[in-house]
Amino acid sequence: MELKEIYTADNSRYADAEALYQRCGRSGVMLPKVSLGFWHNFGGNDSYERSRAITHYAFDHGITHFDLANNYGPPYGSAEETMGRLMDDDFKRYRDELFISTKAGYDMWPGPYGEWGSRKYLMASIDQSLKRMHIDYVDLFYSHRFDPNTPIEETLQAMVDIVRQGKALYLGISRWPLDALKKAVDYLKAHDTPLLIFQDKLNMLDRTPQENGTLDYCAAEGIGFISFSPLAQGLLTDRYLNGVPADSRMAQERFLKHSVLTPELLAQLQQLNQEAADRGETLAEMALAWILQQHGVTSVLVGASSVKQLATNMKCVHAAG
Ligand SMILES: NC(=O)c1ccc[n+]([C@@H]2O[C@H](COP(=O)([O-])OP(=O)(O)OC[C@H]3O[C@@H](n4cnc5c(N)ncnc54)[C@H](OP(=O)(O)O)[C@@H]3O)[C@@H](O)[C@H]2O)c1
Repeated sequence: MELKEIYTADNSRYADAEALYQRCGRSGVMLPKVSLGFWHNFGGNDSYERSRAITHYAFDHGITHFDLANNYGPPYGSAEETMGRLMDDDFKRYRDELFISTKAGYDMWPGPYGEWGSRKYLMASIDQSLKRMHIDYVDLFYSHRFDPNTPIEETLQAMVDIVRQGKALYLGISRWPLDALKKAVDYLKAHDTPLLIFQDKLNMLDRTPQENGTLDYCAAEGIGFISFSPLAQGLLTDRYLNGVPADSRMAQERFLKHSVLTPELLAQLQQLNQEAADRGETLAEMALAWILQQHGVTSVLVGASSVKQLATNMKCVHAAG
């Protein structure tokens, strides 16, 4: 019989609580300033032991928030299956210490009911997600993208009902345009399930939510804001300063293409890297700290392909401020 290594969380995991957690908007929820995303590095094609080590390091250092979506993998669904395996192996007894999110909106299964914002899709998707993750409820359920062809009330009422059915505790919205977000906030408030958080891309290279007023709106409405791809998928680190490593995301040429790394961008990254060095920080640390300093930001949602990367990224909590 194979004996499984038993995981016991570090007793000092909340030692840094005062620096690490902050309130999510005007809600009762405290979130870590650094959250862990499962988009890459947690799929069925990735090493389970490496994924497992990253989550252990995260939880041992107070990262209580894991962010997923129905189609994270590859293959689709497999990041949630990894989460399910992690629940079985390590995290079941820590369930109440974890804040787990998932999403539905992008293509997940074939046919007309496997993407976008219909009630049909969202209801089926949350059930599938819970089964894959071996949990009874998620802490946070997101609409992953705005659907211009489904009445907004249909999407939002399905989300409200998911909460009422006990399948999610809170609701989030990701990547919706500001005018639709405003309608959603009003609808959800009127249905006693106020929006907890908005998830969008914000980093030193892409400041759209700041420039278009979304960040200010969220802050004024008491809605949290979590920044995805805070390191621009690895660009805002030392990863690409001396070429494209074979084991990097860019080498896969899927979501981060070689063509992005123009000579102009490389020069900008090198300059930022020098600025970070002058401050005694890594570029990753400085880039994350910059986001956390922006008014209205609750958390940076980082990805990591190693424990070492995550350890570097966590330093931003102390760099910020
Ligand atoms: N709502 C949405 O539509 C949406 C969209 C995108 C992402 N997200 C969420 O945001 C999360 C994070 O997105 P992301 O993975 O793009 O975030 P990211 O933190 O910008 O990029 C993560 C990648 O950067 C590299 N990296 C990270 N730390 C590093 C370090 N210290 N030194 C060197 N390289 C480092 C690694 O790439 P290598 O693999 O090359 O090592 C890592 O996989 C996702 O997992 C997901 O939960 C949501």
